[in-house]
Amino acid sequence: MAGSEHTHPGADVAARAESRWAWIVGAIILFLVAMMAYMSLHWAAMPPTRTETIDPTTLHIAGEFVETNLGSSAEADGTVTVRVLANQYSFTPQCIVVPADTPLHFRGTAADVVHGFSVSNTNVNMMLVPGYVSNLRARLEKTGDHVMPCHEYCGTGHAAMWAHVKVVDKAEFARLVQASGSTGRRVSCVQ
Ligand code: CUA
Repeated sequence: MAGSEHTHPGADVAARAESRWAWIVGAIILFLVAMMAYMSLHWAAMPPTRTETIDPTTLHIAGEFVETNLGSSAEADGTVTVRVLANQYSFTPQCIVVPADTPLHFRGTAADVVHGFSVSNTNVNMMLVPGYVSNLRARLEKTGDHVMPCHEYCGTGHAAMWAHVKVVDKAEFARLVQASGSTGRRVSCVQ
C-alpha cells in the first residue's frame, strides 16, 4: 500500500520540486509581511523628516506666504523659487512667470481647504494642503503659455479656479527681476 502513491516514475521528483517551491513561496510571503511590519513601525515611529508644516490661519499676516512674497524670485544659486498660495477660489499669483530651461522650485500651500494644480503640457503637478508646505522641483524647457487649473475639488467655485503660467526666456526673466528690484515684490505676470 505504501507504494501506491508512487505509481508514476517521476512522482518522487515532482513531489520534491513541489515542496521545494512551496517553501520558497512561503519564504517570499514571510519576507514581504516582515518588510510591511517593519516599514509600518518605522514610519509610525519616524515621520518623514522633509514634512514642513505651517499655520494656515496666519499665512496672510507674516512669514513666507504673505502676499508680497508670492510669485517667482531669482535665487543666488541660479534657481528660481515660485511661491503659490491657493484659496477658494483662486491662486496667488494669478499669472506665474518663470524662465525657460532653469531649475524651478515650487513651494505652495493652501489657506482654507485642499487644492492642487497641474501646469498644462508639463509634468508639474502638486497638491496644496492647508497646514503643509508642498515642494516640487521642475524645469520647463520651452517658452510659452500654459494654463494651471485647480485639479482637486475644493467647493462650488472649483471649476473656475485657474491661473496661468508664462515661460519666458532667461533674458526676459532677468529683466523682470531687475525691474521689480526696487519694489521688493516677487515677479509675476499679473496685469
Ligand atoms: Cu481649488 Cu479646486
